[in-house]
Amino acid sequence: MEIAPHRQAELIYLLRHDCGSCHGMRLEGGLGPALMPERLSDWNSEQLALTILYGRPGTPMPPWRPFLTDKEAYWLAARLKAGLQP
Ligand code: HEC
Repeated sequence: MEIAPHRQAELIYLLRHDCGSCHGMRLEGGLGPALMPERLSDWNSEQLALTILYGRPGTPMPPWRPFLTDKEAYWLAARLKAGLQP
């Protein structure tokens, strides 16, 4: 997906810091579940992107719709499924 390199860097920063505050700095879990590829294999990218965009009502998982476009959420979902390199 065509996302400008500087925006990709911002999204990775968001993933490590904002998402990492709940899912763990290395996304191995914390208040939120681990976001490692093995654990996400039951979900397709669309399901993950929708979770990122709309959150999980009734849980601490917030909606990121105000900060991310659909395309960016799909890109993050694909990155999570591929495994984020440390
Ligand atoms: C305030 C804490 C918090 C933040 C910040 C947060 N999450 Fe979550 N997230 C959660 C919790 C808690 C769940 C589990 C919800 C449930 O019980 O179904 C979750 C679930 C998820 C899931 C579904 C995984 C699964 O196996 O159920 C994904 C994907 C996800 N988050 C991605 C993200 C991404 C990407 C970000 C950053 C853009 C993010 N989260 C930021 C708390 C958070």
